[in-house]
Amino acid sequence: MLRWLTLLSCILFHTNGNFVEDVGAANQPQYPPPPPPFPFNVIVILPKRESIYDNFGMTLQKAMPVIDIAVQEVVKSEKLPPGWINLTYWDSRLYEDILLAERHATVGVIQAYCEHRLDAILGFADNYGLATVTKVTAGLNGGIPILTTSGMPSLLNSKKEYPFLTRMQGSYRLLADSMYQLIAYHDEDSVTQANSSLNYLNLIFFYHDKRRAVNRVINQDESQETGATSSHCYFSLYAIKRYFTEKSKTFKREWALNTPQFPFDEDLVIERETFKQWLREISLQSNGKKEGIKRKKNQAGVGK
Ligand SMILES: *[C@@H]1O[C@H](CO)[C@@H](O)[C@H](O)[C@H]1NC(C)=O
Ligand SMILES: *[C@@H]1O[C@H](CO)[C@@H](O)[C@H](O)[C@H]1NC(C)=O
Repeated sequence: MLRWLTLLSCILFHTNGNFVEDVGAANQPQYPPPPPPFPFNVIVILPKRESIYDNFGMTLQKAMPVIDIAVQEVVKSEKLPPGWINLTYWDSRLYEDILLAERHATVGVIQAYCEHRLDAILGFADNYGLATVTKVTAGLNGGIPILTTSGMPSLLNSKKEYPFLTRMQGSYRLLADSMYQLIAYHDEDSVTQANSSLNYLNLIFFYHDKRRAVNRVINQDESQETGATSSHCYFSLYAIKRYFTEKSKTFKREWALNTPQFPFDEDLVIERETFKQWLREISLQSNGKKEGIKRKKNQAGVGK
C-alpha cells in the first residue's frame, strides 16, 4: 500500500508543472490489463463544473489531462506495464450543493468498494467531502490511501482520524508558521532564534464567513441552522489561531476565552459607510501598547 502511495505521489508531483498543455488527451488508451495485482483501481472525485464552493477551481476536466500524462510517464519510464491503472472519474456535484457533495462523493467510493475496485482515491475540491471519505475509508481494506491537493484545514492534521491522507499542497499550518514568524509577539520564553518579528500582540481576525457573519440574516426560527459551511478564510485563520496558541504562552492566555474576530458575509450588500464603521471598530480593538494588525481576506463587499 505504501509503495503505491509513494509511487503515485512521485508521479503526480513530477507532472505538476505541465498542467494545461494537453486538455484534449483525456481518453485513456485501452490496454488489456496485465495480470493481477493489476489493474490498480483509482477513483478520482472532483466536481464536473466550477462553482462558488470550489475555492481552487478544481474540476474533473482540469485534472484528467494531468493524470493521463502521469499515467503515461509511468509506462514510458517502464516502471509499470501498460494498463497498470484503471481510473474511475466521479463527479462530486459540488456545484449543485456544498452540503450534499459529501454524500455524492461517499456514494462513489462505496460503489467502487463494492465492485472491488478501490485501491486509492484522488481529488476533492471540498474539505467536507474529503474529511468524511477519508475518515471512513481508513477502515476499508486495511486503509485506502487518499491523495489530494486540497484539505488544508488544521482539522485534517490528525493522523489518528485521517491516517491515510496525503496533502500535496501542505496545510494552513505552514501559512500559520510564516505568520507567526512575521507578525506575532514573541515572548521571552518562546524559543525563537531570530527575533525579527513585528511583535504584534493585539490582533483581530477580520474575514469572510457566512456561518458566523455579523451581517447574516437571522432566521425567524432560531432553532433552524443556516446550513452555511465554514469558509476558506475561516479555516486559514483558525489554523493561525491554533498555531499561535500552541507556540506562545502569551497568545494562549490572551485568547483563552475568546479570540478577537469580526466575521462578515462579503456576498451580502454592504454599504460603504457600514464598512467604514466596521473598520473603525476593529481598529479600536486591535490598537494597544503593541500595534495591532488587521487581517483582511477580501474586500469584495466595499462600495457595492
Ligand atoms: C475499470 O473500471 C471500470 C469502471 O470505471 C469497470 O467497468 C471496468 O471493468 C474496469 N476494468 C478492469 C480491467 O478492471
Ligand atoms: C523580541 O523583541 C520584542 C520587541 O522588540 C521584545 O519585547 C521581546 O522580548 C523579544 N523576545 C525575545 C525572545 O528576545
